Amino acid sequence: MAASSRVSSPAGWLLAAAHCTLVMLALLAGAARGHSPAAALSSTFYDASCPGAHDVVRRVIQDARVSDPRIPASLIRLHFHDCFVQGCDGSLLLDDDLPAIQTEKTVPANNNSARGFPVVDDIKAALEHACPGIVSCADILALAAEISVEISGGPRWSVLLGRRDGTTTNIASAKNLPSPFDPLDKLKQKFRNVNLDDTDLVALQGAHTFGKVQCQFTRENCTVGQPEGALENLDRVTPNVFDNKYYGNLLHGQALLPSDQVMLSDPAAPATTAPIVHRFASNQKDFFRNFVASMIKMGNISPLTGRDGEIRKNCRRVNSKGH
Ligand code: HEM
Ligand SMILES: *[C@@H]1O[C@H](CO)[C@@H](O)[C@H](O)[C@H]1NC(C)=O
Ligand SMILES: *[C@@H]1O[C@H](CO)[C@@H](O)[C@H](O)[C@H]1NC(C)=O
Repeated sequence: MAASSRVSSPAGWLLAAAHCTLVMLALLAGAARGHSPAAALSSTFYDASCPGAHDVVRRVIQDARVSDPRIPASLIRLHFHDCFVQGCDGSLLLDDDLPAIQTEKTVPANNNSARGFPVVDDIKAALEHACPGIVSCADILALAAEISVEISGGPRWSVLLGRRDGTTTNIASAKNLPSPFDPLDKLKQKFRNVNLDDTDLVALQGAHTFGKVQCQFTRENCTVGQPEGALENLDRVTPNVFDNKYYGNLLHGQALLPSDQVMLSDPAAPATTAPIVHRFASNQKDFFRNFVASMIKMGNISPLTGRDGEIRKNCRRVNSKGH
């Protein structure tokens, strides 16, 4: 403590000593939980160690979407399903490696639904080539989410970075991901569990402005003879553009998912979510501003930082010990 040596008056010394004690207590509390003192995420985290990271991720996504225009939508959904399950730690990306690792990819919310994993592999390979061992898989999902929104016509923002990758999955938590058939109070509860409020719920569901849904999850269900996996656009008006048309669709009763429509139709909606839907439908700037704030909140769910976790070499597997 350089400051305490410069303090001469007794009162000043007492203050400095108290300050030292507080700092030590904070450090001890961190150590007691088995963590290094929590480091905050930062938008400049890779500026020195991997300055090209953002460009590398963008190039791979741009290439992938030439043959698969749905990729931006699929990638942002991966960040959501990662962050809601024991924090943004890349756990969603792990494949089965039994008995230690049971993959989250086959829980109901993900099985035959979460997609884009080969593109994440391509991003990781490109980053390992550019700056080996530096960029975590959890951060790849956060970067990919922002880039996917930006290249689809949505807002851009400074992504907070510095997450590290976990070494476990959490099946119980993954089975508890929001379901399209959850009533409003359950959706709100699942968001509150990760410190996201009603505005976050309404803003983040605005991501259903692009991408696709299987008819088995829609309010109308599949028509006779249609396979349950038949795809429809989530936003019938501007299917591949990130804009606020989704909220207009909602107001016209045109939302595809039951979990979308409950934000207006639930008995509790008029006092909570419905006014926010109206706001975002009438003001795209307001929606964009709130969407960015909510994405940053979601990206801040329990990240591993400092010396916790690891930087995976392969997003599908934890690094082997002793290497
Ligand atoms: C309120 C909770 C939510 C529920 C119940 C929900 C449910 C769903 C369902 C059922 C699908 C279609 C999956 C399929 O047919 O295979 C879907 C797709 C999608 N969701 Fe959500 N979602 C929620 C919140 C979010 C959030 C927070 C985001 C991102 C910020 C998001 C982004 C997307 C995107 C972009 C797609 C299209 C993915 C693609 O085309 O591959 N969703 N969601
Ligand atoms: C996932 O879907 C496949 C069909 O593609 C099915 O065979 C399998 O049983 C499903 N897994 C789980 C855990 O439901
Ligand atoms: C959709 O239709 C299928 C086939 O008739 C049925 O098994 C399934 O339960 C329906 N889903 C919902 C949510 O009603």
